[in-house]
Amino acid sequence: MVRAAVLTAVNAPLEITEIDLPKPGPGQVRVKLTAAGVCHSDLSLSNGTLRQQAPAVLGHEGAGVVSAVGEGVTSVATGDRVVLNWAPSCGNCHFCALDEPWLCAHAGAAADTPYATLAADSTALYPGLGTAAFAEETVVPAHAVLPLPDGVPLVDAALLGCAVLTGYGAVFHAAKVVEGESVVVFGVGGVGLAVLQCARIAGAGPLIAVDISPEKEELARAAGATDFLIAGDDTGKRVRALTEGYGADVAIECVGRADTIRAAWTSTRRGGRTTVVGIGGKDQQVTFSALELFYFGRTLSGCVYGNSDPVRDLPAIAEHVRAGRLDLSALVTDRIALEGIPAAFDAMLAGRGGRALIVF
Ligand code: APR
Ligand code: ZN
Ligand code: ZN
Repeated sequence: MVRAAVLTAVNAPLEITEIDLPKPGPGQVRVKLTAAGVCHSDLSLSNGTLRQQAPAVLGHEGAGVVSAVGEGVTSVATGDRVVLNWAPSCGNCHFCALDEPWLCAHAGAAADTPYATLAADSTALYPGLGTAAFAEETVVPAHAVLPLPDGVPLVDAALLGCAVLTGYGAVFHAAKVVEGESVVVFGVGGVGLAVLQCARIAGAGPLIAVDISPEKEELARAAGATDFLIAGDDTGKRVRALTEGYGADVAIECVGRADTIRAAWTSTRRGGRTTVVGIGGKDQQVTFSALELFYFGRTLSGCVYGNSDPVRDLPAIAEHVRAGRLDLSALVTDRIALEGIPAAFDAMLAGRGGRALIVF
């Protein structure tokens, strides 16, 4: 038995309770979690903004140590330090063949199959995003763990699994930021902070952060922001004032709302690029006129997992950590226990803090 935070039904409070985990089956591994970050997507899964079968154990940003491997697993062994990958790619589908593994047709497959049971009454539990990291241990497909490169502390490594891979991918692969470009980042949560740090690594400048919460300024500046703006109707105008009147070369939206996507797009220069990282609901409709499309010649694109390829990108990210260019612990403002997840959700909604990290 292991302790887990169980979402009994969409919109119900989480319950900390014991669950029974099976031995890893063929092609599966069991991981003893060292830490797990609380991401806005967990909140969106728990409140129904994103689809989630319940009851479930959420949590998709985790790191730990392999405690057992199932038959046929050769990629990792017991005792290995690993990061969970919530979008493992199959290597065989149309998108994998195109070398776009973040779009893998089977990436979400594990989330739809029960993986454990409630200890109390054997109710089947689903793994949130296939990883179920809000528990002391989890069982996942072997390709949903990535060996952690040396030199990265195992607790902070949890952040690599979502915020940092997403942020790194968004900057280097989706938005393709190059040195000297002006970049504006909307939303200074865990994901936005990772984007800011990676844009700093890319040599972006000015690097402008936008949030509704004034207390995010200090965090944003520590992550590399040269300017901080409180979001308002005139955000685009204020970004233009900081970019010689043109607007930013690149905007990266890390909120997931129609108004911030629109504001991000409005903040870019003619020909500028907007990458949307935030995940909003179906009700969030973004509008612009056909004439604007012609006049401004801007690009607006979505991305999945920052269009990162975890297998390719994790070693590069680890090198930035080892070299001191990427400060993982700077993303974390709260170190909590499983019981602290509801408060971490509340803090997100209130615009307080950076990442909350569950340390087991
Ligand atoms: N304008 C600017 N910033 C805003 C606005 C707004 N209208 N509304 C909220 N924010 C800020 C919040 O104050 C917070 O700092 O956006 C930030 C969001 O941070 P978190 O809630 O911590 O979310 P995070 O985990 O970083 O995820 C961001 O990426 O992966 C997706 O589903 C995730 O859509 C979410 C986004
Ligand atoms: Zn996430
Ligand atoms: Zn695939």
